[in-house]
Amino acid sequence: MKPYDLRSDTITRPVAPIREAMAKAEVGDDVYFEDPTINRLEAMSAELLGKEAALFVSSGSMGNLIPLFINAGRAAEVLTHSNSHIIQHEVGAVSALAGVLPIGIDAPRGILTAQLLEPLIKPLSYDLARTAMIEVENTIGGVCYPLETLQDIYQLAKNRGLTVHMDGARLWNAAVATSVDIATIAANADTVTFCLSKGLGAPVGSVLCGSKDFIAKARAIRKMLGGGMRQAGILAAAGIYALENHVERLSEDHVRAKRIAYSLSSSGWAKVNLENVETNIIFFSVDGASGEKVAEVLGEHGILCSGDGNTVRLVTNLDLDDSDIDAVCTIIEGLDVKEFSV
Ligand SMILES: Cc1ncc(COP(=O)(O)O)c(C=O)c1O
Repeated sequence: MKPYDLRSDTITRPVAPIREAMAKAEVGDDVYFEDPTINRLEAMSAELLGKEAALFVSSGSMGNLIPLFINAGRAAEVLTHSNSHIIQHEVGAVSALAGVLPIGIDAPRGILTAQLLEPLIKPLSYDLARTAMIEVENTIGGVCYPLETLQDIYQLAKNRGLTVHMDGARLWNAAVATSVDIATIAANADTVTFCLSKGLGAPVGSVLCGSKDFIAKARAIRKMLGGGMRQAGILAAAGIYALENHVERLSEDHVRAKRIAYSLSSSGWAKVNLENVETNIIFFSVDGASGEKVAEVLGEHGILCSGDGNTVRLVTNLDLDDSDIDAVCTIIEGLDVKEFSV
């Protein structure tokens, strides 16, 4: 039985043309600014996002950490969603390495608003930590920020002297799903990180975008973190191929995610909020069964997914085509709630 791997969009293996582009990449020492392929990826990314400059970094986590060093700093606060990646999945780097205090905020569907954020911005005082930054994750749990919400948050940040960082690990999914140009979305943040290694299907890397001044400082922090790479144009070539060829096709992943969500919804055993399936991520639960148990049962039937607490996550990705999704839906529709009882 073929396992259908829906654990994440990070599991995809580079397609043949990506490998070819990597093999042919012109390279140089990037710490000396001499890798032409990295320089091209950075220039291309800055232009696409409407920012002055960009920096190739090894991961989304590094792309989120660097702005915390520069635009927040020790003993400052960052306001973010309580389920954000920087709080939940970056091994505490926000405080352990950048020395920043994250303030986690609950908000429906993961979407922060200016109204929720404003009362949490601290007044300047000798005994209070300074609120320095707002961090928004777009998409968050597969849900896209409405443009007006981002505009209001950015306006609030500017009025109060804060910076905004956007964790856009899946920002291309948001741009495709909402049909809003990525630069229009990115205009509502001072710094933006997007990942090449998720839905876009490159093997490694993320890009951090911002002002020229910010990126100059970011290069130094990247080096400090051990992230100065040398002939990494081999990796950047994969990123360029992904940006040129794998953006539009994200809409296929989104349609496939909706198909799975409808299948789950009509299965009789799964609870899924269809409204939250805006991109390539589906969360669902099964009454009376832990996420781990559900993931285990689905795994036995050939559907690999991740279960945590009482929820299960499925992520459509480049390695799965329409016939795979047909097979996944058939498995889901053939299961009975009894399978999940302990
Ligand atoms: C929303 C979000 N931000 C950041 C990251 C970090 O990316 P990386 O795994 O490349 O460090 C991830 C990874 O899954 C993510 O989902």
